[in-house]
Amino acid sequence: MSFPHVRNRRLRSSQALRNLVRETSVSVNDLIYPIFVTHGTNIKEEIPSMPGVYHYSLDLLESELAEVAALGIQAILLFGVPETKDAKGSSAYDPNGIVQKASRKIKELQPNLLIVADTCLCQFTDHGHCGVVHYDEHKGCADVVNDASLELLVKTAVSQAEAGADIIAPSNMMDGFVYAIRQGLDEAGFENVPIMSYSVKFASSFYGPFRDAAHSTPQFGDRKTYQMDPANIREAIREAESDVVEGADMLMVKPALAYLDVIRAVKENFDLPLVAYNVSAEYSMVKAAAERGWIDEKTVVLETMIGFKRAGADLIITYFAKDIARWLKD
Ligand code: PBG
Repeated sequence: MSFPHVRNRRLRSSQALRNLVRETSVSVNDLIYPIFVTHGTNIKEEIPSMPGVYHYSLDLLESELAEVAALGIQAILLFGVPETKDAKGSSAYDPNGIVQKASRKIKELQPNLLIVADTCLCQFTDHGHCGVVHYDEHKGCADVVNDASLELLVKTAVSQAEAGADIIAPSNMMDGFVYAIRQGLDEAGFENVPIMSYSVKFASSFYGPFRDAAHSTPQFGDRKTYQMDPANIREAIREAESDVVEGADMLMVKPALAYLDVIRAVKENFDLPLVAYNVSAEYSMVKAAAERGWIDEKTVVLETMIGFKRAGADLIITYFAKDIARWLKD
C-alpha cells in the first residue's frame, strides 16, 4: 500500500484548523458604503435595478446614517442627484448644491463618519458627460475637453471639502485631475484632505444600474474617450503611475470583479492603499440571482469580498457593505 506523500486536506479537517490557517480576511474597517442623496423632502425611493439601495432626501437620512454608524462602517461614498443640470454642471460646485448640503447635514448627524465625496460632473451636466463638452469641427462630433473640465472639477472638490467632505474621490478620468485638485485643495487650505483617486476606471457596462440611480447616462456618445478600454492592463499601470506622481493618497480600480488581475498588478507596482469598487451591476446580478433562489446571497457575497482582498484590495466600496457588516457580527 502506498500513501500520498502530501496531504493538503490535513489542514482542512476542522473549522478551527481552517480558521487558523486562513490567509485572507474581510473586516468592517475595509468597507465603504455608497449613499445616494436627492433634493426634495420625504423621499426614500428604492432604485429599481438595485434592490435594497435607496435615494434619500436629506430629511430622511438620519436613521440610515445611524444604522451605518452602529454597524461600525467607517466611511460612506456620497453621490448627489441635483435639482438642476446645465452644460457646465454648476450644481456640482454650488455651495448649496445637494452634495454640499448633504455633507453639512451628515457632519451634524454623524461627525465621526467619514464622507468620501465622488468628484465628477456627470450627474450635474445636462449632457451627462464627466466634463465640458465642445463640438470638434475637425472630427465632426462632440468631445469632452480636458483642461477646461479640470477647472470645474477643482471648484467641485474645493466646495466639497468646504462643506465637510473628509476624502475627495475624483472619478472623472480627465488627464491631470489629481494634480489639479491637489493644488486647488492646498491653495484653499485643505492640504490635509486626502485624494482617493479613481485611477484605473474602465469604460464598463457594469455601471448600468448606477446610471439609473444617479441619472447620469450620457445623452450622446459614450465615455470611451476618457474611461479606459477594458482590454488594457499596461495602460492601467500608466494611469495609476501618473496619479501616484501627481500626489494621490489612495488608488482605485473600478469595476472589480472582471478586473482582479488589474487589482493585483496595481498592488504589486504601488504601495498606496488600494480600493476596489464593487460596482452597481456586480451588485444587481447577485441580487437578481439570489431573488430567484439560484444562489445563496450571503456566502456568494462574502466569497466575492475575499476574492477582492486576496487579489490585493485593501478597501472595498460596495452596496453590500451594511449586509456584510451584519454578517461579520453574526
Ligand atoms: C461617476 C461615477 C460612475 C460610477 C461611480 N462614479 C458612473 C460612470 O462613470 O458612468 C459608477 C458606480 C457603479 O456602477 O456602481 N463618474
